[in-house]
Amino acid sequence: MRSAKNWDDYVAHADEVAESAGFQALRDHILASADLGDGAVVVDVGAGTGLLAMAAAERAGTVWAVDISPAMGRHLEAVAAASGLHNVHVITASAVALPLEDASADAVVSNYCYHHLTDPQKRLALAEAHRVLRPGGRLVVGDMMFRVRLNDARDRQVLREKSRAMLRMGVPGAVRLLRNAGRYASRRWEHPSDGPWWKAALISAGFDDVDLSLLDHEGGVVAGRRPPAPARPG
Ligand SMILES: C[S@@+](CC[C@H](N)C(=O)[O-])C[C@H]1O[C@@H](n2cnc3c(N)ncnc32)[C@H](O)[C@@H]1O
Repeated sequence: MRSAKNWDDYVAHADEVAESAGFQALRDHILASADLGDGAVVVDVGAGTGLLAMAAAERAGTVWAVDISPAMGRHLEAVAAASGLHNVHVITASAVALPLEDASADAVVSNYCYHHLTDPQKRLALAEAHRVLRPGGRLVVGDMMFRVRLNDARDRQVLREKSRAMLRMGVPGAVRLLRNAGRYASRRWEHPSDGPWWKAALISAGFDDVDLSLLDHEGGVVAGRRPPAPARPG
């Protein structure tokens, strides 16, 4: 897993990826599923350069943009100030320990952050998302959703497409492919989980109305709701 310091070196790259058509479509999918009401309090976990946070801020009351990297946070603060959006508040913290109050958010959203966490860390992050959501609040996560499993047809397809895309880049792509294979073999690669894992993890973290959409590439979006508080008798 990259440390916060490593992430500081990826601001320009994260910004470039956020501009891609794929990420813009994911942003729209995630925010539509979050169903933000006017004035909502939104938490963006692993906010990076602000793909979700900036779009959410146009409608939300408050956006807490949480990221482990101070440099990502500084970049996002500058972008928000330049856009005149004063409701984006950057917090430098980890997804597994959100410095936010219980039941204080209407929605928690995240894009392409959680595959940098191991499965046990993802479970801690889901428990944190559940804790900070108000009853009835929604969690929506977009992420890589496959595993490196050669006996699974979707996983095989994703790996084939990723390898072809890298090889089309010529020698630099081939080098990257080899480097990824080495990192995977030495267990230093990222930790994507597949769609069924995500669905089960949200249910075991206490979410209901859990819905999974696998996209026609490596990605997927999983959403759930912190169940509303039971009505008081009488
Ligand atoms: C691939 S970028 C995605 C950024 C943004 N969500 C987007 O879609 O453009 C992943 C982000 O997750 C952040 N990150 C990685 N591990 C994290 C953790 N444990 N807690 C919070 N943020 C983390 C990184 O600093 C980085 O900004």
